[in-house]
Amino acid sequence: MEKDEIKKLLEEVSTTFAKVQDKKELEQIKVEYMGKNGKISLINQKIKDVPTEERKDFGIKINELKNEFNSLYKEKLEEIENKEINELLNKESIDVTLPGTKINVGNHHPIERIIESLETLLMSMGYDVVEGPEVEKDLYNFELLNLPKGHPARDAQDTFYIKGEEYLLRSQTSPVQVRCMLEKKGEEAIRIICPGKTYRRDEDDATHSHQFTQMEGLLIDKNITLGDLKGTFEEIAKMLFGKNRETRFRPSFYPFTEPSVEMDISCFNCNSKGCHICKGTGWITVGGAGMVNPIVLKNCGYDPEVWNGFAFGFGIERLAMLKYGIEDIRVFYVNHDLNVLKQFDRREY
Ligand code: DAH
Repeated sequence: MEKDEIKKLLEEVSTTFAKVQDKKELEQIKVEYMGKNGKISLINQKIKDVPTEERKDFGIKINELKNEFNSLYKEKLEEIENKEINELLNKESIDVTLPGTKINVGNHHPIERIIESLETLLMSMGYDVVEGPEVEKDLYNFELLNLPKGHPARDAQDTFYIKGEEYLLRSQTSPVQVRCMLEKKGEEAIRIICPGKTYRRDEDDATHSHQFTQMEGLLIDKNITLGDLKGTFEEIAKMLFGKNRETRFRPSFYPFTEPSVEMDISCFNCNSKGCHICKGTGWITVGGAGMVNPIVLKNCGYDPEVWNGFAFGFGIERLAMLKYGIEDIRVFYVNHDLNVLKQFDRREY
């Protein structure tokens, strides 16, 4: 009778395993058959009731049942594990034919490009690049540059003052000239350019911004002429705008230079026919310059009987607008848009 039971269990075990789906069910079956009160364990206990002559045979049958169970169990476990691995592989597989993710690469801002190309040219002409603080003393920004308090030319540079009247946000990069001359104590020739941010209480419009960028230049030596300044400006204009762009000097006034000039470039937008950008004149002023005023030399410790030189100041935004055909200065700041930057080739200046 027990033998029949074993036979029945053998069949039952193989149909049960066939239905198993996962590891949890597999473990339940193990408990159900092989656990302490499992079906196989219980039938095993019946060996003591089997007549002695049949016991051996019974034992063999039970072992067969157990072996069968164990091998089915092993087989099923392997099958489930393989299935799990395959599922995982399918889920994590990489489709190498999919298009890749485009990585955005940084680019130089037009302002930076102009500064760098000016630096490269002027450094090749023996100039050093010098920087000064943006929070500056009135003394350096105005006073020693021959702009004493109450001087009408101060009004043209509507200034952001800090802490009363002593400190300000520099309205020009010219104070770096003063700092440099004071440092050299009137004893050495100087060739410097000073790029940097400047600030004025301007209303922002197409050509004005309350924060903008200038590059100052200063050359102090002996027997320097206005012709040296003109030659230098022409090199700069050619480098930035090519041979076709025309340049001119116009008499002007700056308290720190004597004589003073405006440095003009023919209008890029209308080829000097007259348009809204050049305000109908055909020319755009890109900077001011002149021979360093002897008063400034003296103020900064240089003997005007021995030393002379020239100074110039460029508006970098203006140069960038001319060079890249940008009509509104706000493109650089307020309406800042990556699509503008993306138009510039990374390698080309
Ligand atoms: N600092 C002047 C300005 O902001 C520009 C300038 C003019 C600088 C003449 C100079 C110069 O060095 O000689 O308008």
